[in-house]
Amino acid sequence: MNLDTRSTDAPVPGAADTPGSTQTPVGEALPQAARIGQDPLWWRSAVTYQLYIRSFADGDGDGLGDIAGIRSRLPYLASLGVEAIWVNPWYPSPQADGGYDVADYRDIEPAFGTLGDAEALISEAHELGLKIILDIVPNHTSDQHSWFTAALAAAPGSAQRARYLFRPGKGPDGALPPNDWHAVFGGPAWERVTEPDGSPGEWYLHLFDPRQPDLNWDDPVVRAEFLDILRFWFDRGADGFRIDVAHGLIKDPALPDLGIEEEVLMGMPDREDHPHWDLPGVHEIYREWRRVADEYDPPRVFVAEAWVSSPQRLAAYLRPDELHTAFDFDFVRAAWNAAELRATATSSLQAHDGVGAPVMWVLSNHDITRHVSRLGRAGHAVNPLHDVDTVTDLVLGRHRARAALLLELALPGGVYLYQGEELGLEEVEDLPEDLLQDPTWERSGHKERGRDGCRVPLPWTTGGPSLGFGTAAGWLPQPAGWAGLSAQAQDGDPGSMLSFYRRALRLRRELPALGTSGGGETLTWLSLGEDVVAFRRASGFGCVVNVGAGPVDLPAGELLLCSADLDDAGRLPGDATAWLTLA
Ligand code: GLC
Repeated sequence: MNLDTRSTDAPVPGAADTPGSTQTPVGEALPQAARIGQDPLWWRSAVTYQLYIRSFADGDGDGLGDIAGIRSRLPYLASLGVEAIWVNPWYPSPQADGGYDVADYRDIEPAFGTLGDAEALISEAHELGLKIILDIVPNHTSDQHSWFTAALAAAPGSAQRARYLFRPGKGPDGALPPNDWHAVFGGPAWERVTEPDGSPGEWYLHLFDPRQPDLNWDDPVVRAEFLDILRFWFDRGADGFRIDVAHGLIKDPALPDLGIEEEVLMGMPDREDHPHWDLPGVHEIYREWRRVADEYDPPRVFVAEAWVSSPQRLAAYLRPDELHTAFDFDFVRAAWNAAELRATATSSLQAHDGVGAPVMWVLSNHDITRHVSRLGRAGHAVNPLHDVDTVTDLVLGRHRARAALLLELALPGGVYLYQGEELGLEEVEDLPEDLLQDPTWERSGHKERGRDGCRVPLPWTTGGPSLGFGTAAGWLPQPAGWAGLSAQAQDGDPGSMLSFYRRALRLRRELPALGTSGGGETLTWLSLGEDVVAFRRASGFGCVVNVGAGPVDLPAGELLLCSADLDDAGRLPGDATAWLTLA
């Protein structure tokens, strides 16, 4: 339970007035649209905004976000200063897992719009200079996918069943699951089916919900189908794909027991010989996908969601003939501690440099506790299921969130922002239990509340039934304090989080030192104190993050932007970051 009810963003006045923050020389004359549009390496340094479509904007008043809502807010995204958008799954789906249960990969969920609406969105985004990344879900389909209904109707051993992982049960009458694996959302990872003749039958594997049966990637039909799905959307102008559970596709054919009590949501496997996470066989799949992406002009790109045991294992996905990028979840998990932040950034940068890939820094997404809340806590567990019931200081969390933003924007590589972080939204931890929709809630026997708290519809205006999200109440209720955090309330307030994001993103684009394609650049760490993370980039750009409580002296140079007011002695206060041109 969140004990801090202060939910408005305390203005940090000085940040708005930092000298030079708007007059910094522009690195190049081209407008943003042309620059991103023309650069085939845009993905190496782009700032991408993640749209959780269900909760972004509701264009038709049914309480659920949709494509019409996104189209109406594209100018907001362009003026925020991001260079790309990633849209969570928008395909026809029973929504058993917020759209990650796909029933048809080549169409649009009717509640979100039509294929025509999707094509219009893609071209309107492009006109504004925004790239668009879609979300592909290759580990599992919905149980309503035509392949799965055909598999249930077909006999054991059939070609239809071979597309999934059907196995006979153990025990004399097959009443026990084939092995001891657990589903990520809780309960066993196997479900028994009733055969067409009414007899108790085989079991199928589902690493997530039973309504998400795992595909069999050893079946060539499955492989060919996904190559075709990639082409379907690339042909319609999609610039790339985020790959869901990219580390999960291949399973050890022996299906050995794991001997663990439960599968942890968004956990890193703690062993390198895990029988269903991060098996070497996944890499051949992505080499094939890369060849398809490279057939296009400009080449299409990939970003992997891969929870793996080390930066080296992550970098293996990013070898030159595999995927382009992957989210850096080590950064998400790092505590607000100088040694840990430095060590994490160093090991990520080194591992990525080894394969010539840029790091993708990220602080929040639709699966993890919003970072304003995480950073406002003494403990720092990322898992949304295990760090509730702690005291949260949202004012502190928002100060640190500003500082953390400047840190990730200053590091070489690209950045993913999650919708609503530019408004400083916190995790909503007191949603009524009868409204919870994350399958985790039911599957865990009501022990784990799940991820709905980071998926609450965005507040756009200070009034209305869903604060401008739509014309009706949204699918989850917003906290009362969110009127004051709405885009309307923050727009034009120079001290607001929204203004701060706009300023930082504009400056990042304008400074030649930042937003470059990266790669091979030396980053020099500076020693400015135990609680300080500081570095210089090749051009002389400097970033100083003070994670301690007391103020620290800044090195000589011109201040470009600061996440908080300097003190009277010109020192950087605690929980703040400064950008400088170093003398
Ligand atoms: C990924 C998604 C998550 C989803 C899961 C199963 O982790 O980000 O939202 O529940 O995969 O598809």
